[in-house]
Amino acid sequence: MPNQTSYKNIIVQQEGKAGLVQINRPDALNALNSETMSELIAALQIFDAADDVGCMVITGSQKAFSAGADIKHMANASAVDMMNMEFVEYWDRLKTIRKPVIAAVSGWCLGGGCELALACDMIVASESAKFGQPEINIGVIPGAGGTQRLTHAVGKAVAMEVALNDRRLTAQEALNYGLANRVAPVESYLDEAIQLANQISERAPVAVQLGKEVINQAFEVSLTEGLHLERRLFAMLFSTEDQKEGMAALIEKRPAEWKGR
Ligand code: CAA
Repeated sequence: MPNQTSYKNIIVQQEGKAGLVQINRPDALNALNSETMSELIAALQIFDAADDVGCMVITGSQKAFSAGADIKHMANASAVDMMNMEFVEYWDRLKTIRKPVIAAVSGWCLGGGCELALACDMIVASESAKFGQPEINIGVIPGAGGTQRLTHAVGKAVAMEVALNDRRLTAQEALNYGLANRVAPVESYLDEAIQLANQISERAPVAVQLGKEVINQAFEVSLTEGLHLERRLFAMLFSTEDQKEGMAALIEKRPAEWKGR
């Protein structure tokens, strides 16, 4: 369990087997600066290594998951500053987390906030969630994965409107386009995300991690390479005690007891 005293911009807690990271910069609508992103990645890494956590949830407040990268943090930066500053790289570091990460999104989910949700493995949205990439309004384009991950998620036509004309997607649109997994009332979206994380935490841990890895590879490699990796990982799972236990339990009509090895 991460130590809360190490963090200024996030609140960490454990809910059952779910590791919860809440962005906590209410005065800036949870805008993301380097310090916040660094804390967020550090907390995820600690949960990733914890035996009693199987899945993580990132959330913000009901009003704002995050209004994006902190504009005040970047406004006076030069191009060279932006290239050298270890900032947008933080979003890519979510790829190094082995356990699944769910974004529980309510209210504003804009710019770098939307890109953070897109870098997660699943999105549970509240009915008030508003997804967008409004960087065009401040003279730039999405810089932390939005042009790529949003296009993969919703397709070129919608991504073009979102990035070039500040089209905002409602929670229902996000669900219809396959960006969000589910939509829940504002009062219960976080509980639903935590419940989903706890359900996943009860599954065979090695299979969960490898399943996450290979599904994410579908966005990185060719179909032939992806299928090759899937076959290798599928075969590799037959070396785990959990595969023997899972198949025996099904045949014996009893619940499986996972060991994570
Ligand atoms: N960065 C820094 N501060 C931000 C912020 C951001 N992205 N978004 C909001 N804030 C701050 C505001 O400056 C304001 O602070 P003060 O009270 O000190 O003035 C506070 O949060 C509340 O914001 P508003 O008064 O603007 O609230 P609102 O309800 O009227 O509007 C909003 C809400 C529509 C989300 C509006 O705040 C807004 O448009 N924010 C900017 C959204 C944006 O452009 N995001 C993209 C950022 S760039 C990026 O993310 C690049 C990338 O790809 C990495």
